[in-house]
Amino acid sequence: MKTGFVGGGHMGRALIAALRRSGVDAQSLFVAEPNTDLRTALATDFGVHASSDAKEFAGDVDCLVLAVKPQDMAAVLAPLRAHLERSQPLVISIAAGLSTSQLQHWCGPRARIVRAMPNRPASLGAGATGLYADPSVSRTDRERAERVLSPAGMTVWVDDERLMDVVTALSGSGPAYFFRLAEALADAAVAHGLDRDAASKLAAATLHGAGLMAATGESMSRLRDSVTSKGGTTAAALDAFSRANLDHIVEQAVAAAIERGRALSRQQDNNGG
Ligand SMILES: NC(=O)c1ccc[n+]([C@@H]2O[C@H](COP(=O)([O-])OP(=O)(O)OC[C@H]3O[C@@H](n4cnc5c(N)ncnc54)[C@H](OP(=O)(O)O)[C@@H]3O)[C@@H](O)[C@H]2O)c1
Repeated sequence: MKTGFVGGGHMGRALIAALRRSGVDAQSLFVAEPNTDLRTALATDFGVHASSDAKEFAGDVDCLVLAVKPQDMAAVLAPLRAHLERSQPLVISIAAGLSTSQLQHWCGPRARIVRAMPNRPASLGAGATGLYADPSVSRTDRERAERVLSPAGMTVWVDDERLMDVVTALSGSGPAYFFRLAEALADAAVAHGLDRDAASKLAAATLHGAGLMAATGESMSRLRDSVTSKGGTTAAALDAFSRANLDHIVEQAVAAAIERGRALSRQQDNNGG
């Protein structure tokens, strides 16, 4: 299967890295990226065909992954539309917010669209991807989409497109939340006298270790119980989180991310997309 990527920025690169790590042949991978440095690095690091213009391969791939910013999507697809209408590749969009109907509007009415929301740990094969396709998309196409995304990590299908904004707010944006918490932890330790280097290393290693424990599949509450002794130091810290209403803060953060995804989508409609 030939797979092309439109956009070789952070996520395009992460998904290509995952495909190459899983053994996919470089000759079957194509990427268009206008930034010369990024493009050269993609060709050098992964051996893939890298060009500045997706028109060079859009009409010749089985699957086209759209990995550009949502705000750029309409302009990026306009010159590709004739190629897509002629060759009808499976189109996988990883753009936050953009709906199947918007993508179909830009790619053509017969386009087969799968929406995917991966995240950055994809480059290490430790990603999490939510997938959605409307019922008209065949099982074969869904399996093709899985073949592109599953080297990046676990995948979950949702059957209601509106939930893609929720997936985006949870796992798409999620790595940043854990990094932010690790930063706050390190800052707090520095405020209490630990040197910056030691604090940063301990926070990062703790995040990594907790992530490995979480990957065992045990429930979060059981894992938390297993590291919290009654009346101990961890319990005191967790009580402080509760008093500050951590759940409410997180709920607000997720709601803000969901709303941002919807706003990005509306913005494209308002721009006449
Ligand atoms: N970052 C994440 O963690 C994450 C997670 C899940 C999903 N996503 C989604 O993934 C998409 C890409 O995000 P990103 O973080 O990878 O953004 P990014 O780093 O800005 O990558 C997008 C790349 O596309 C390039 N581009 C612009 N116009 C192009 C064209 N006509 N043809 C080919 N390439 C073109 C951009 O080049 P210029 O910079 O020169 O314009 C840029 O290098 C977004 O839609 C985002 O919603 C991101």
